[in-house]
Amino acid sequence: MAKEKPNTEPIWRQEIHLPSFSTLKENIDADVAIIGAGITGITTAYLLTKHHGLKVAILDSDVILNGATGHTTAKVTAQHGLIYDELINHFGEEHARLYYEAQVEAIEIIKQFINTLNIDCQLTEEDAYIYTNNEKYVEKLKKEKKAYDLLNIKGDLLDKIPLNLPIKLALRMNNQAQFHPLLYLKRLVEEIQQLGGSVFENTTAVDIEFNKRPAVITDQGIRVFCNYVIVASQFPFYDGEGFYPMRMYPERAYVLAIKSSFKYPGGMYINAESPSRSIRSVQYNGEELLLIIGENHKTGQGKETRYHYQALENFAQDLTQSSEPLFRWSTQDLTTLDKLPYIGPITPTHQNVFVATGYRKWGMTNGTIAAKIITDQIIGKKNRYSKLFTPARFKIDPGLKRFAAINLDVAKHMLRGKFDHTKDIKAIEKMRPGEALITRVNGKRTGVYMDEHHKVHLVNTTCTHLGCEVEWNSGDHTWDCPCHGSRFSYTGEVITGPAKKPLKRITE
Ligand code: FES
Repeated sequence: MAKEKPNTEPIWRQEIHLPSFSTLKENIDADVAIIGAGITGITTAYLLTKHHGLKVAILDSDVILNGATGHTTAKVTAQHGLIYDELINHFGEEHARLYYEAQVEAIEIIKQFINTLNIDCQLTEEDAYIYTNNEKYVEKLKKEKKAYDLLNIKGDLLDKIPLNLPIKLALRMNNQAQFHPLLYLKRLVEEIQQLGGSVFENTTAVDIEFNKRPAVITDQGIRVFCNYVIVASQFPFYDGEGFYPMRMYPERAYVLAIKSSFKYPGGMYINAESPSRSIRSVQYNGEELLLIIGENHKTGQGKETRYHYQALENFAQDLTQSSEPLFRWSTQDLTTLDKLPYIGPITPTHQNVFVATGYRKWGMTNGTIAAKIITDQIIGKKNRYSKLFTPARFKIDPGLKRFAAINLDVAKHMLRGKFDHTKDIKAIEKMRPGEALITRVNGKRTGVYMDEHHKVHLVNTTCTHLGCEVEWNSGDHTWDCPCHGSRFSYTGEVITGPAKKPLKRITE
């Protein structure tokens, strides 16, 4: 019997009725304009309206909660893979401790909002585990445990974990949490609305103008006049010469939601080695499903998407005796040069424009603490994490090495494809609906996609951001840019920035 095709929308967007909002059609005035309706933008808007009575306007180029936050795994934890030993080595004990404390504070903030607003969002307390089945990582886990001890993080080394996975060693961090991110944030959005905040969907911010007060300009030429701008659009839509494209790189990961043949023992799990595997449970339709996440790779540089899903299905089959996902989707995150998020003024010269990005897959806590830091910065209150996360920081080690490596990689992608092998017309004739290939039309590298009606769509594959060549993502049917993570539909429309303009369509 043929397998049923899984739903490709994230599980979080099922069985939930999210409010919808109109597009911004006329100039407006606000204290704070927030670009991006994900966990950072919404949490900041909530703090600013609820606690400080400020008037906020949130703009999103899509619908709310449909970017990284809508595609997350929603682990609410301070265990961010193997990180604390590395942070101690690169930043020192004090900064590593601050990073941990920032995550703990973020968890407390989330719990506090849930209690205060009485939000039913499937919050459960769970222990978090990093495990390895690779001898090379055993020593790394032991070092990470030493870092836990130094930082007073409660945790244990274990040779067995509750989940039936082959392991050599695991490191547990006690009393972390998981939840349903959209049930939680939907409630915050309702509060923001009740408190007079406004939200606009399908409203793309393209620039900021600086006169007496800043004004965010949309692609329709509409302005939001304000005192402060918060750029919470994952990849900053406005750079202000902060060189963000050169200071971060995007990674994709894949998620399956699958029925399990056994009763899940609780806990959130992630392995230390590659290929990455991460597991948690989730409630859906009165049933418990497993979320299995992994196969991370730099955007535009993986294998064909179906291989990544297949690898996760094989893993699921071994773990659960089931390999038929009900849902599957992919997600994208940004990592900074030194692995710490950039949170704070976007550049030293633009102190009224804030950015929060580069969460390295850990957006629930990093997005929440970003909201708190930026709120404090706007109201002029000292925040002890400001310095740690400031985008103006500059660390030679390991930043510079990574900077060079990333930019060599980016340069390679800019050149590649301009000289790529061509595929001839016969290949196009052999195409089937849903397939894409890259060829040359009039000497220009061209992406060809055949839709379900056998109509062929041609786009120039040069990314409209900084000129890298996009690659086909066969799972999501998108053109993805390996350099800074822009994604385009098969007709060339922008799905995810930093690109603002569509790929050029080729009509003949
Ligand atoms: Fe920067 Fe494509 S996203 S060049």
